[in-house]
Amino acid sequence: MSSKPRLFSGMQPSAESLHIGNYIGALLQWKELQSTHDAIFCIVDLHAITVAQEPAALRENTRRTAAQYIAAGIDPQVSTLFVQSHVAAHPQLAWVLNTITGFGEASRMTQFKDKAAKQGADTASVGLFAYPTLMAADILLYNAVAVPVGDDQKQHVELTRDLANRFNTRFGATFAMPEPLILKETARIYDIQNPASKMSKSAESAAGVVWLLDEPSVTAKKIKSAVTDAGREVRYDVAEKPGVSNLLTIFSVLSDRSISSLEVDYQGRGYGDFKKDLADVVVETFAPIRERTRELLDDPAELDRVLASNADRAAAIADATLANVYDRIGLLPKG
Ligand code: TYM
Repeated sequence: MSSKPRLFSGMQPSAESLHIGNYIGALLQWKELQSTHDAIFCIVDLHAITVAQEPAALRENTRRTAAQYIAAGIDPQVSTLFVQSHVAAHPQLAWVLNTITGFGEASRMTQFKDKAAKQGADTASVGLFAYPTLMAADILLYNAVAVPVGDDQKQHVELTRDLANRFNTRFGATFAMPEPLILKETARIYDIQNPASKMSKSAESAAGVVWLLDEPSVTAKKIKSAVTDAGREVRYDVAEKPGVSNLLTIFSVLSDRSISSLEVDYQGRGYGDFKKDLADVVVETFAPIRERTRELLDDPAELDRVLASNADRAAAIADATLANVYDRIGLLPKG
């Protein structure tokens, strides 16, 4: 067994491509953390179906998401990279956790409230309501202590901690206590057309979302037409200049340069040069990932084989936790 701290994180395969918010807020951190942690990365397809998905597209997007993880640097020999529905213990533990979760507590989850408001409260599914307990099951099955996420997921990790605590108090020490790992400066990347909103796979307009797998010319064009603020100064000021500040964050992370050195560089040069150079940086970062994703998708049988063997590794851990949970809560073992 590894002596490194256990880490768990995941993404939904709910679009053809991941976006630059997923890349900066999650994938980049994951890549770094896999050398210091015993890392488990999941493609959470059971979460994705909490909103309607077209079956063929879901299957395809699940492979695409896996391919993008690998192309961006997640090594399935080093980390465990698998599809959630391949390990039955996830929905099984989620069910148990549902029974110790308060209706009121689940109703207070802001992501549920936002998504339910978008769909209309009557059409939002029970699955969407139970999204956070499935996420808690993901984390607790592996006794993960570190959960790297963007800040929109913090409340879900806090609920996970509450549930772990509650279960441990009632049934004896079972689960490790997970901590969210949130990098402050990249915790939230905003829509480049509407910097008041978080960049999201389900954005109303695709113009504000920079996709990992877009054609380079499309990416460059999008960035060059990103909304900037009044004035022409390239300065980090979230209140006065949310658009430029968001672009500065992206530029800084992808070029490994500080925001202040970028501010100095673009002083007196206006937004045009800045956006053009940022477009180059993004295109250069994404081009090799896009190419590698394509290669991986060209051999779906090999990709499926990697996912299957990784799922076996994950299941060995998850099944042992689930058996312990069933025993503790008093379910009769099958003789
Ligand atoms: P998902 O697919 O919505 O998001 C995947 C990851 O990307 C981060 N993220 C962002 N970060 C910065 N700026 C943005 N605009 C942005 N948009 C998304 C999210 O915070 C997330 O880290 N519920 C999870 C999936 C999940 C999970 C888990 C995560 C299921 N089980 C267990 C950790 C542990 C989610 O939001 O996926």
